[in-house]
Amino acid sequence: EDVSVVVVGSCMTDLVSQAPRLPKAGETIHGHRFFIGFGGKGANQCVQAARLGAKTAMVCKVGRDVFGNDYIQNFKNNGISTAYAEQTENAATGAASIIVNDTGENAIVIVAGANMLLGQEELQRALTAIVNAKVLVCQLEINPDTSLQALRMARENHVKTIFNPAPAIVDLCSDFFKASDVFCCNESEAELLTGMSVTSVEDASQVGLELLNNGCGSVIVTLGPQGCVVCQPTNTAPKHIPTTAVTAADTTGAGDSFIGALAFYMAHYPTMPLEEMARRANLVAAVSVQTVGTQTSFPFQKDLPTELF
Ligand code: RIB
Ligand code: NA
Repeated sequence: EDVSVVVVGSCMTDLVSQAPRLPKAGETIHGHRFFIGFGGKGANQCVQAARLGAKTAMVCKVGRDVFGNDYIQNFKNNGISTAYAEQTENAATGAASIIVNDTGENAIVIVAGANMLLGQEELQRALTAIVNAKVLVCQLEINPDTSLQALRMARENHVKTIFNPAPAIVDLCSDFFKASDVFCCNESEAELLTGMSVTSVEDASQVGLELLNNGCGSVIVTLGPQGCVVCQPTNTAPKHIPTTAVTAADTTGAGDSFIGALAFYMAHYPTMPLEEMARRANLVAAVSVQTVGTQTSFPFQKDLPTELF
């Protein structure tokens, strides 16, 4: 097994409407473009890591339907191992209804479907890949118990873990923190998890330290155009890592691009300081926001400055 990054997570078919603004409850508005794309936070992160050059495997479940068949092919097109990408008759492939407004913001409803059927048995089938990986990545679009179990399997075998608590849940079990080498969330997830409001770099630093107290290795709070804040137990002060200013066309999946890049750097540059990995991951994610779609906007190694490698 020479897979360096394993993602245990979600696949969604993204049904995306671009509109001038997000509709209010009960309102119908005209949008100007519709497209279908490959999404889901888990798969997005895996695709970004693969495009930067990581050998990756995706542990996931899709339906035995058109969307599921297409998704398996999408993994193959991205050079991702599909040995643990299973299909089920018992649920439909996950779907995400996404609205993107003219300033690149979004609102998303996900129906997880087949993703929720990924469990213990599937993890056992992927055991060899997981325990031999350099980095394991999990999110919260599958059954949380499955994510936690995967993180623990990795941890017990000295595989570095990245946990992205997205979409966030209010009462996240503290075991998730203990099983995470890097706990990486955005500002709104950090708010939900702590009850603290995050509107500035200073707030993010506060909330990062609060999250760090729960027992994870380090915390990264991403802040969109403001970059991110990295909190490590050894460093006394949280470190703000700014990013380059870009014009956002669609920020959907920017966090996934960041995490996929982080996984790539952790797997391939294990001695690089986390702050430097975060700086580089910021720059990868900044590329992704400049074009529409999630995976369609994720850069390949060949598209990026050589200094990032
Ligand atoms: O993080 C972006 C992703 O969230 C989208 O691709 C959508 O599928 C939702 O899961
Ligand atoms: Na994008």
